[in-house]
Amino acid sequence: MTDTLVALDQGTTSTRAILYDANLTPMASAQEEFAQHYPHSGWVEHDAMDLWKTSRRCLAEVLKDARPAALGLTNQRETTVVWDAETGKPLAPAIVWQDRRTSEVCAKLREEGFEDEITSRTGLLLDPYFSATKLAWILDQTEGARAAAKSGRVKFGTVDTWLIWNLTKGRVHATDATNACRTMLYNIHEGRWDRTICDRLDIPMEMLPEVRDSSGDFGETTLFGAPLPIRGVAGDQQAATVGQACFTPGMMKSTYGTGCFALLNTGTEPIASQHRLLTTVAYQLNGTPTYALEGSIFVAGAVVQWLRDGLGVIENAADTLAMAQQADPEQQLYLVPAFTGLGAPWWDADARGAIYGLTRNTGPNEFARAALESVGYQTRDLIEAMHADWTAPQDTTLRVDGGLSANPFAMQFLADILGAPVDRPANLETTALGAAYLAGLATGLCPEPEAFAANWRAEATFSPEMDAATRDAKYSGWTDAIRRTLSA
Ligand code: G3P
Repeated sequence: MTDTLVALDQGTTSTRAILYDANLTPMASAQEEFAQHYPHSGWVEHDAMDLWKTSRRCLAEVLKDARPAALGLTNQRETTVVWDAETGKPLAPAIVWQDRRTSEVCAKLREEGFEDEITSRTGLLLDPYFSATKLAWILDQTEGARAAAKSGRVKFGTVDTWLIWNLTKGRVHATDATNACRTMLYNIHEGRWDRTICDRLDIPMEMLPEVRDSSGDFGETTLFGAPLPIRGVAGDQQAATVGQACFTPGMMKSTYGTGCFALLNTGTEPIASQHRLLTTVAYQLNGTPTYALEGSIFVAGAVVQWLRDGLGVIENAADTLAMAQQADPEQQLYLVPAFTGLGAPWWDADARGAIYGLTRNTGPNEFARAALESVGYQTRDLIEAMHADWTAPQDTTLRVDGGLSANPFAMQFLADILGAPVDRPANLETTALGAAYLAGLATGLCPEPEAFAANWRAEATFSPEMDAATRDAKYSGWTDAIRRTLSA
């Protein structure tokens, strides 16, 4: 069947491949987890070969009996891979987006007054989250790497680039604009790598991949039998924005995985945030970037994992639903899950988790409710910042996806605390869906964005039920809890 599409979603904790029919209904899937490496406090690494091998195996599994028209690729963003183009071997472990080892480098650049320049060129904040300082770190640690990079032998890529390189047996060294803009080396206004930043970090531009549209030609792979064209590429949060059909300025989506990433489509003009959100490329089609404001929260679904693995008060994530429903309504517990610091809009790497409002009656049910509510409160922090930055007319509905969006208590509380509707589609795997769509768009199998958006349906809508006074009182308690948790 050549009227099918396949998506490869290489995420932070697992890799999966999904086969879709021409209507983008999933037909088959394969998934594999891989090892996380924490060699020092604050360090997070992946073996880049694991990322490739799990991708290859998952694709082989779903392509056993299928010959799709094209492959769409989506990936964990910012994670940094450097490899030798002749041997195909990585020079060092991949440094994962969560890794904080370059905090001091960033602090020094900030002291030297470089942050404003970084922000105005890249739309990002000067933070170890992004690829640039991770890449510089690998070059610093590996003797001869800079010279080899200048001669073209050593290459850099985010995970999409690394996988495309392997899929095409080294024929294509490319990325798309949504991944490039997360490196802190890409000028989002000029649509090219930024020489000033590369020079400042001593990064040879010869090692950077070519930047292409998100829907277009990325070569083909012959590793699974008949040639399979690679026609869609986007970072996972941008792919989810596409999968949620947020194509109109003012539309927003929020994905609840380990963390939470909310994106607001702002159209073809980049909006500079005054509230510490990121300006990013949502997708690039036919050479034209569409921009978004992005808010990133580091701990969303992970707070439920903590209830299970850290506190041991639940066996399964789903247990939180009944527990939250049974929690004592008289108690107001605030759990601020700043386990690895606070992301947007606070960007406080030194803050740590806190809980407020404990009484003698507090038990596991109240913890479960506070954990689920923390996801709603943090999302409201992001949406408040977005509203302050984006004053144009806006669709206040929030489209949600990702594992935690399956929890009706969390989603109802989200609608209540936002005071706005929350729409959830039937297919919560919108990241892979978006990648498949981008590939289908390039091959003509999928309709243009307007038609795709017209077909988008919510499977569930959560409407706000909380009265305004309760909402304000609860949110004011949260703001107070945040104020007490910030490190300075
Ligand atoms: O920016 C990091 C993000 O792309 C990671 O997403 O879903 O792999 O945790 P995920």
